Amino acid sequence: MGTGSEMTDAVPILLTGAEIAERVRELGVAITRDYEGRSLVMVCVLKGSFVFAADLARAIGLPLRVEFLGVRSYGQGTSSSGVVQITQDLEHPIEGEDVLLVEDIVDTGLTVAHLLELLRTRLPRSIKVCALLHKPARSCTPVPIDYLGFTIEDRFVVGYGLDRGEAYRNLPYIGVLDSVT
Ligand code: IMP
Repeated sequence: MGTGSEMTDAVPILLTGAEIAERVRELGVAITRDYEGRSLVMVCVLKGSFVFAADLARAIGLPLRVEFLGVRSYGQGTSSSGVVQITQDLEHPIEGEDVLLVEDIVDTGLTVAHLLELLRTRLPRSIKVCALLHKPARSCTPVPIDYLGFTIEDRFVVGYGLDRGEAYRNLPYIGVLDSVT
């Protein structure tokens, strides 16, 4: 667990707050256009997507409700094993709803693949994926990302909701921590 002192060391910027804001605005416009006349259920994957989801929700001009799905993935160090434990389930059913699964980052793809499989068993009308970041270099399983913010190289990133050991989530930009192995 971080002490907070990490925040005093500058983390090199990969994406500025302004770049992220502009891209989130564009994603909101595209989602609003694609679901015109319908309403949406945003399923936000905790914890990492909480900042992105908050901004994205306000960029979408549709009636929507927000649900949170708490997950813990068991992995080796910083890599995912795809074994996902649900730590907090949805509050309401999603049967017959148009669902948008909101993820901070798709790395190996195993987490999103698992969550899609789980959510489909609950019979939504449709389900799409919106991810802020994608690292295609590490992809293990093909996952459909219907709305994508940025494709990035295989580097460990923090900020804008993303953490390392629970630290850095409140950085207002996305930075790179290459010291992680
Ligand atoms: P996947 O199952 O490998 O796609 O893992 C996705 C999850 O791993 C994300 O929701 C993050 O919690 C975490 N993750 C993957 N890459 C990073 C990163 O660069 N920084 C912070 N978390 C990451």
